[in-house]
Amino acid sequence: MNVTDAITQRISTRAFLDKPVGEAELRAILDVARFSPSGGNCQPWHVYALSGAGMARFRAELGDVMASDPMGEETEFHIYPPGIKEPYRSRRFKCGEDLYASIGIPRENKGGRLMQLAKNYDFFGAPAAFFFALDRQMGPGQWAHLGMLMQTICLTAEEMGLATCMQEAWARRHSFIRKFFGVPDELQLYCGLAVGYKDPGAPINSWRTERAPVDEIATFVS
Ligand SMILES: Cc1cc2nc3c(=O)[nH]c(=O)nc-3n(C[C@H](O)[C@H](O)[C@H](O)COP(=O)(O)O)c2cc1C
Repeated sequence: MNVTDAITQRISTRAFLDKPVGEAELRAILDVARFSPSGGNCQPWHVYALSGAGMARFRAELGDVMASDPMGEETEFHIYPPGIKEPYRSRRFKCGEDLYASIGIPRENKGGRLMQLAKNYDFFGAPAAFFFALDRQMGPGQWAHLGMLMQTICLTAEEMGLATCMQEAWARRHSFIRKFFGVPDELQLYCGLAVGYKDPGAPINSWRTERAPVDEIATFVS
């Protein structure tokens, strides 16, 4: 697989096959993705990887937390800026509408939409996952550099025949994740990333998000 194919084939996968992915695969992904660039080569990322019995224990313990706190806690950062402007607002809205349309859940079916959202907290059925954290000292630059690692992980996984979904939704469960992995206080949890084999028959994996054309996002001076 070449880089272009990996970039264009990767989608956020939201239904996975019941087929295991173990620590060996997660290590192999990270062993490639660790070559991602970062400003000053600071490599500001901290990665927590979950599979096998660890994943089973995570799911069991999270189940108790979800039962007592179904909506989740306040996030430590704004996932989107409050009052997000155009065109970002409309793009986000369309993405959500297209997602729910793919599985036939209309706007009025609030319960159905919430149940779909809650699947984030089962990694959409994925057998493995990563979580990412940064030292609280780090600023926007280093957050961007962590994003480079995350995308490189997704592309490496793609090459290995695996599918992924980045999941900021886990920001609503940061206390549980911190306790589970023993994440030190000086680190801030950012995001989760589900890893597994895509369920090719699942309608939620059958749609594609759109992208603005080059001339909408770029200014050329030639
Ligand atoms: C950092 C990051 C966090 C995301 N968090 C979630 C999430 O919590 N749940 C979810 O279903 N999708 C999540 N997504 C997926 C985005 O909605 C998706 O990347 C976007 O709509 C583009 O679609 P594509 O990934 O299929 O190309 C996240 C994406 C990124 C980059």
